[in-house]
Order: sequence, then structure tokens, then C-alpha cells
Amino acid sequence: MTATISVNGSSADYPVHAGSVGPEVIDIRKLYGNTGRFTYDPGFTSTASCESKITYIDGDQGVLLHRGYPIEQLAEQSSFLEVAYLLLNGDLPNQQEHDEFKYLITRHTMVHEQLATFYRGFRRDAHPMAIMCGVVGALSAFYHDSTDIHDPKQRTIACHRLIAKMPTIAAMAYKYSVGQPFLYPDNSLSYTGNFLRMTFGVPAEPYVINPVVEDALDKIFILHADHEQNASTSTVRLAGSSGANPFACIAAGIACLWGPAHGGANEAALEMLREIGRPERIPEYVARAKNKDDPFRLMGFGHRVYKNYDPRAKVLGAAATKVLDTLGISDPVLDTARELERVALSDDYFIEKKLYPNVDFYSGIILSAIGFPTSMFTALFALARTTGWIAQWTEMMEDQDQKIGRPRQLYTGHGPRDYVPLAQRG
Ligand code: CMC
Repeated sequence: MTATISVNGSSADYPVHAGSVGPEVIDIRKLYGNTGRFTYDPGFTSTASCESKITYIDGDQGVLLHRGYPIEQLAEQSSFLEVAYLLLNGDLPNQQEHDEFKYLITRHTMVHEQLATFYRGFRRDAHPMAIMCGVVGALSAFYHDSTDIHDPKQRTIACHRLIAKMPTIAAMAYKYSVGQPFLYPDNSLSYTGNFLRMTFGVPAEPYVINPVVEDALDKIFILHADHEQNASTSTVRLAGSSGANPFACIAAGIACLWGPAHGGANEAALEMLREIGRPERIPEYVARAKNKDDPFRLMGFGHRVYKNYDPRAKVLGAAATKVLDTLGISDPVLDTARELERVALSDDYFIEKKLYPNVDFYSGIILSAIGFPTSMFTALFALARTTGWIAQWTEMMEDQDQKIGRPRQLYTGHGPRDYVPLAQRG
């Protein structure tokens, strides 16, 4: 199939590629050569930037698949490490592959001892995401034997290192902020159990893992593991397209994730719910969100791709109730969230604009119940998303069509003009 594009009466045909599911794409690579024109699509609302086999989203139906598996099934039945294997390798592991992968990851959980001194250069009140950007970028200065991007073996080791070290790095960021000693990883624990211990344990006594908390956090990690070509993943791919090493690329992804329109929304959503405080104040905030002259938005609501319920929010909404019940926590924020969801979903503004709760709406309530400060929320998102980022980076490195990413622009600045020496300028 082809699509015909006419510009000023001259037409040319362009190939149309069909994916396995989802919309077809018009291949416009020859458009500039044929017409001397670029396409204009700020925010990439109609542009596929790459071919990928990892994650599929149907935003109208609220469907999210990783390598074909629905996110609900993975969240219910799988583990984060298994999902990491799936994203990286394309299929679920058998028992032996699973055990080998777990062994490989746990053998990389420690960080170079010298890296700990990096933390001491930060202020104690530094935001964990500021620390994560710096420390993850610095990994490339420590692991020279896995920065040759042209060597598939080194690429694989870099993937394993990043997945394995992120919990250690995030836990160290937390420990540094509360002034407690860093804890070394315990490889006898699960991926998530080890992270909980490094975060909340102290050297003075054994740390007892609550299986409900471990399970809930593992689910949160699964739900954040990958999400197709979102802003931070596209950032990782763009950084990687120039040949930058994987540690530098993931640091770039972390920087992008930090923004409140992206991963920073989980922190902003809980702060908003706390500010609302009680269900009676909801109409005031909904009115603000609808007011064009007020920049306020309902955080944790709306999504570029989902024009239906975000399937991740559904899983987390149910998990929030379970975790709070099990921990015996009665948090009025959960009641406020449920009521806000009810009010927004029956309001014409939100219905017309198809704004539904997204993954960030309920995750903060669970993370807060577990004991994480809001400043750690986006760092946890980064920890989990590293798996998706590195799987997408690997896929790009193996893609024969891969080129340096170089968007063009619609230039609206000055035309050519002559330089005027400073003394002659009015
Ligand atoms: N509250 C009120 N109005 C909203 C909201 C919201 N949360 N989100 C979108 N709108 C309105 C927006 O004002 C616009 O109205 P109009 O057409 O009259 O100008 C319309 O809906 C479309 O919004 P948009 O900003 O053009 O849509 P987008 O696809 O560029 O943005 C978004 C998507 C996620 C950035 C946006 O919905 C938003 O800012 N949400 C709040 C932040 C948030 O929860 N982000 C987390 C996203 S999911 C996790 C992740 O990606 O990390």
C-alpha cells in the first residue's frame, strides 16, 4: 500500500507500513528529497520515531502489552525481574533462564566503593532525582569495560549493571538524605525485598520484610517498567543515537523523567491530594482545573496516548486499598482520591477531553503508606523504568536502520542581516 502526497500539483507515492497491531504508518523519509518540505509535528503527536517490538499501547481501548502480554496479567502473576527479562529478551524465561538471569543481576548489585564518595558532595537536602542524574551519569566513569557500544557483550553487561545497581543507587540517595549509613545489598533477597532493606533497614538490627509491601512495590515496579516511546524513552534513544554510552543515556532519561508532566507527576499528584485535604474541597480544585486562565491541572489525570482509563491506574487503585487495609493505615488522601476520580469522571470537561486517572494518580498513596517520602517517588519510577529504557536502547543499537536523531524545524527568526559593530549600535 502507498499514500500519495501532493505538493503544489506535484504528487509522489510513499510506502505505508503495517505494524502487527495498531495504526499503519506513512514512510515519509523521501518527502524532503522529493518536495523540499519538512513535516511539522511539535510534540510528535502523529509521528512514529522508530520501529519497536517491545511495548504496544492502544490508548482508545486502554490496552498496554509488553511483548504481547497484557499488563494486568503481568502485574497479577509475574515478578519485576521476570518482566525485565521479558522486555530485554522478547519472551518470558523458563525456570533455568529465570534463575540464570536472577543470578546475573544479583551479582551486579554492589556499586564501586568509590562511588559512595560522590554522594557526600551533595547537600543533604538534595532532591533524590538530582542525585540520581549525577550518580547514574557517573557510572560511565567507573565501568569502562561496558561502555563500548559496538560490542554486544559489553552492551549486555551494561544492561545487567544498570538494572542491578539502580535499587542500590536509589536507596543510597534516600539514606544520604536521612543521614543514615548506606547498606550493602543482600543478594539472598528478592530484587524488591533487597531494595526495601537497603532503604528502610539499618545496620544495627535485622530488617524484616513485609510480604504485602514487597508484593505491592514489585507490582509498582512492573507497572512502571516500560511505556513505549514516551518522553524519557525517546530521550534515551535520542541520546543513544549519537553513540553515547548507555550510562550517559540513562542519566539523560532520568533528567527527562523528572518533569511534572512526566514521572514527576506522582510526587505532584500526592502533594495535590494532600493540599485538597478533604472531599468537600474537591469542587474548588475541579473548577480551577477547568479554568483556562488558571495554569492548575489535576495531577495524575490525562495522558497523551490514553483516551480511556490507564490500565496501570486500574491495577494501582485496587492495590492502594489492599495495602492500606493490610497495613492498618486509614489515610484520608485515599478517600479524597476516590472522590476526586468520581467527580472528575462525571464532569463534562473531563468526559469531553477524555481525561482519566493515569499511573501516577494512585501510586503515591501506596508509596507513602510504605513509608517513602514524596521526593523519592520519581526516583522509584526511574529505578523501574531503567529496564524499559535499556531494552529500548538495546533494540535501537541492534536496528540496522538506526541513524543519529536529528529533527528539523520551522524557522521563524530573522533572515540574513549584517553584523553591526557594538559602537555603531543604537
Ligand atoms: N487537568 C486539567 N486539564 C487537563 C489535564 C489535567 N490534568 N490534562 C489535560 N488537560 C486539558 C488541557 O488543558 C487541554 O485542554 P484544551 O484542549 O482546552 O487546551 C486538553 O486537556 C489536552 O491537553 P494537552 O496538554 O494538550 O495534552 P497532552 O497530550 O499534551 O498532555 C499530559 C498530556 C499528561 C502532559 C497532560 O494530561 C497533563 O499535564 N497531565 C497532568 C500531569 C500528569 O499527570 N502527568 C503524568 C502522565 S502519565 C505518567 C508519565 O507519562 O510519566
